[in-house]
Amino acid sequence: MMLEVKNVTKVFYSNKYEDLTALEDVSLFVAKGEFVSIIGPSGCGKSTLLEMIAGLLKPTSGDIYLNGQSITGKKGNTAYMPQKDVLFPWRTIIENVMIPLEVQGVKKAKAKQEALSLLPAFGLEQFADHYPEMLSGGMRQRVNFLRTFLFRKELMLLDEPFGKLDALTKMQMHKWLLKILEQLKQTVLLVTHDIEEAILLSDRIYVFSSRPGKIKREVVVTLDRPRTQEMITSSAFIEIKKQLFDLLKTD
Ligand SMILES: Nc1ncnc2c1ncn2[C@@H]1O[C@H](COP(=O)(O)OP(=O)(O)OP(=O)(O)O)[C@@H](O)[C@H]1O
Ligand SMILES: [Mg+2]
Repeated sequence: MMLEVKNVTKVFYSNKYEDLTALEDVSLFVAKGEFVSIIGPSGCGKSTLLEMIAGLLKPTSGDIYLNGQSITGKKGNTAYMPQKDVLFPWRTIIENVMIPLEVQGVKKAKAKQEALSLLPAFGLEQFADHYPEMLSGGMRQRVNFLRTFLFRKELMLLDEPFGKLDALTKMQMHKWLLKILEQLKQTVLLVTHDIEEAILLSDRIYVFSSRPGKIKREVVVTLDRPRTQEMITSSAFIEIKKQLFDLLKTD
C-alpha cells in the first residue's frame, strides 16, 4: 500500500489553554494511482492530518507508512501543498516554480528549461516573468500546484487547493485538474469542504466527524473515468451527493 495511516491521534498540549484533541484514532489508506479525498467540517483536523503525513507534525500516537516504511515524523517523502498560498512574492512565477528543482540539486539553467516546458500545460506560458501578485487566484493555485508537482514525490497532499476560488474559477480548475491528472497519473490525497469537488475528482472519500476528527464513513465513488463536469447532473452523482450530505449534516 502506498500510504497507510494507522490509529493516528493528535492532541495539542498547552500550558495556557486546555489540551485539545484534534484527531482521534484515524486509520486510512491510499493505493498507488488513487485519488482519495477527505471531507469534514472546519476544525476537524484535516490540515493537522496532512501536516502529519507530510512529517511536519508528529502524531501523539499511531503511525504513518509509505510503501511499508514508517515515515512518522519524517519530512521530505511527500509533495505537500499547504492550505495557505506559499508563493514567494519577490520571485517571479518561473523562479517560484524552479524552487523544488533547485532543492533537488538541478542546475539553474536546466531547472529553468524544465520549468518553462511545463508552463503551457498549466496555462501559465505567458506569465513566466510575472510576479505572483499580478496573477488571479486560480492562476496562483496552478503555480502552487505545479511547484508541488515538481517535488516529484509519488504522493501529492493537497489541502483545499480551490477553497478560496469563486465557483466559476473552481469549475475551470476542476476541468483542468481532471485533464492533467489523466496525463500525470499522480496519486493524490485531497482535503476539501466541497462535496461536489470530492465526488467529481475522487475514487474514494473519507468523511470525517467534527472535532475530534474521526472517520465516519468511507464512500467509494463508482463513476466512470474519464470524468467530465457534465456528470454532476447524472443520477449516480446526485445519489452520492445526497449520501454525503446526510453524513455531513448529522454529527
Ligand atoms: N499548532 C496548533 N496548536 C494548537 N492547536 C492547533 C494547532 N493546529 C491546529 N490546532 C487545532 O486543531 C484543530 C484542527 O485544526 P485543523 O487546522 O487541522 O482543522 P481543519 O479540519 O483543517 O479545518 P479547516 O477546514 O477550517 O481548514 C483546531 O481546533 C485547531 O484549533
Ligand atoms: Mg484546514
